[in-house]
Amino acid sequence: MILPTIAGEVCFDRARFAYDGLEDNPTLSGLSFEVRPNQCVAIVGRSGSGKSTLVKLLQGLYHPTKGRILINSHDVSHVSPQSMRSQLGVVPQNYFLFSGTIAENIQLYRPNYILEEVVAAAKLAEVHAFIQEMPLGYQTKVSERGALDTESERRFQHNLERLSRDRTTFTMT
Ligand SMILES: Nc1ncnc2c1ncn2[C@@H]1O[C@H](COP(=O)(O)OP(=O)(O)OP(=O)(O)O)[C@@H](O)[C@H]1O
Ligand SMILES: [Mg+2]
Repeated sequence: MILPTIAGEVCFDRARFAYDGLEDNPTLSGLSFEVRPNQCVAIVGRSGSGKSTLVKLLQGLYHPTKGRILINSHDVSHVSPQSMRSQLGVVPQNYFLFSGTIAENIQLYRPNYILEEVVAAAKLAEVHAFIQEMPLGYQTKVSERGALDTESERRFQHNLERLSRDRTTFTMT
């Protein structure tokens, strides 16, 4: 099934999930909760408690062995992964930024990219507007530890807030 445009309502309905060979020892069991569109939910738990597993299930990368996961009443198990991904943004915990400009970071795996292509990639990732607001745009330097300076960090947080305002957001540490 192709997922129609969704508002971002999420429902875990008694979801159970066990990794292969661990059927008697499920990572998630009887997990039920509902999230309304545009809500921001924090998933908190000790290491190994199943946070990443929950997000993988939500993305349709794995399917629950019992129960259901619904996005706007559509069972994620029946939705094509491609159409899922087109409406789901995932920001990894560790974004590997290295010392250099933002443009150079985007060019890391595409050294031949000219600036126009760098900008096109950034637009695809929906970070173009954010980058343009930086002091030196694509030439803004990212420091050694991948950190942004205080002002850029502030802008980043601000943009993240703005981005998550009109979408359902799961966040975890
Ligand atoms: N591919 C896998 N095969 C078997 N077991 C797995 C697999 N991936 C994760 N696990 C196990 O499932 C449990 C939950 O892992 P998960 O990665 O979801 O935890 P987490 O809450 O995200 O932990 P962390 O805070 O360290 O990121 C752990 O016991 C882990 O060892
Ligand atoms: Mg994890």
